[in-house]
Amino acid sequence: TWTAANIAESLVASVREQVGEDGLAICGLSGGVDSAVAAALVQRAIGDRVTCVFVDQGLLRAGEREQVQTDFVAATGARLVTVDAADKVLAELAGHADPETKRKIVGREFIRSFEGAVSEVLGDNASSGRKVQYLVQGTLYPDVVESGGGSGTANIKSHHNVGGLPDDLEFTLVEPLRLLFKDEVRAVGRELGLPEEIVNRQPFPGPGLSIRIVGEVTRARLDLLRRADAIAREELTAAGLDGQIWQCPVVLLADVRSVGVQGDSRTYGHPIVLRPVSSEDAMTADWTRVPYEVLEAISTRITNEVPEVNRVVLDVTSKPPGTIEWE
Ligand code: XMP
Repeated sequence: TWTAANIAESLVASVREQVGEDGLAICGLSGGVDSAVAAALVQRAIGDRVTCVFVDQGLLRAGEREQVQTDFVAATGARLVTVDAADKVLAELAGHADPETKRKIVGREFIRSFEGAVSEVLGDNASSGRKVQYLVQGTLYPDVVESGGGSGTANIKSHHNVGGLPDDLEFTLVEPLRLLFKDEVRAVGRELGLPEEIVNRQPFPGPGLSIRIVGEVTRARLDLLRRADAIAREELTAAGLDGQIWQCPVVLLADVRSVGVQGDSRTYGHPIVLRPVSSEDAMTADWTRVPYEVLEAISTRITNEVPEVNRVVLDVTSKPPGTIEWE
């Protein structure tokens, strides 16, 4: 019978079998549920013989770096290497507002940082005369089907995922989740003791907040968006809507300004867009009918607590014709 415990146990056993008694592995962590569960499984199977690599590009939401560095490590005991790539990525992004250009820069920089960290880990192990042969990826069944089956959304936007690796590094892939669906992955993650904030995390794009700032990405804009996003997430969770909402991008229209009034003074601030959607698989989506009181709470808090924002607007477009993300 199917239980999370059975599945976890058999996946651990097959990883152990694939990697063998002394194989070494490396695993990229994105902060998302898939890579976290894959890493936790492999850690359970081979312990310190897997090294997790987390590249922080400065594009994550509030609290996500801590979730990886503190909570994930505490729950799994995994060996973690963090790469601080924010300065580099922001420097590369400066002056660019085109969505595809931003995506390409972030994807390219991700691979560079990851590659750098891998060489370091390889270097460490080379000195001990051992070689890392395995790369762990959190590929799910739907990803397997989509990449085998042609079209998909990959042609509409250039998606990037953890683990797009240079050709000259030869690894055997370890993909313990490749027969599972998302809800099964979450169940296995829970079974392995991962914290709920990681297990229940809603999908978040590889390019992170860079594609939720319409316009150029700057540190100040990221900081602003992080504060607004944290408020929206807090209120949606408090209202018990997480189960109903697939994800809710919060988008900063950085180049748009509008006139408002606060107290006795005129303001000239930026709009924030809320994009709550309901979906089965992100291929199509409907805008979520979030109760007015919840929208009101989010709007009031954002305009009070984030002074640069003087308008909160709601995106009521389904997919198609809109995509879930704005870029
Ligand atoms: P769109 O905007 O195409 O998004 O309707 C569909 C789903 O994919 C996520 N998304 C990404 N995920 N790398 C990812 O891993 C990416 O580059 C990327 N772009 C979009 C998006 O958040 C939604 O869940």
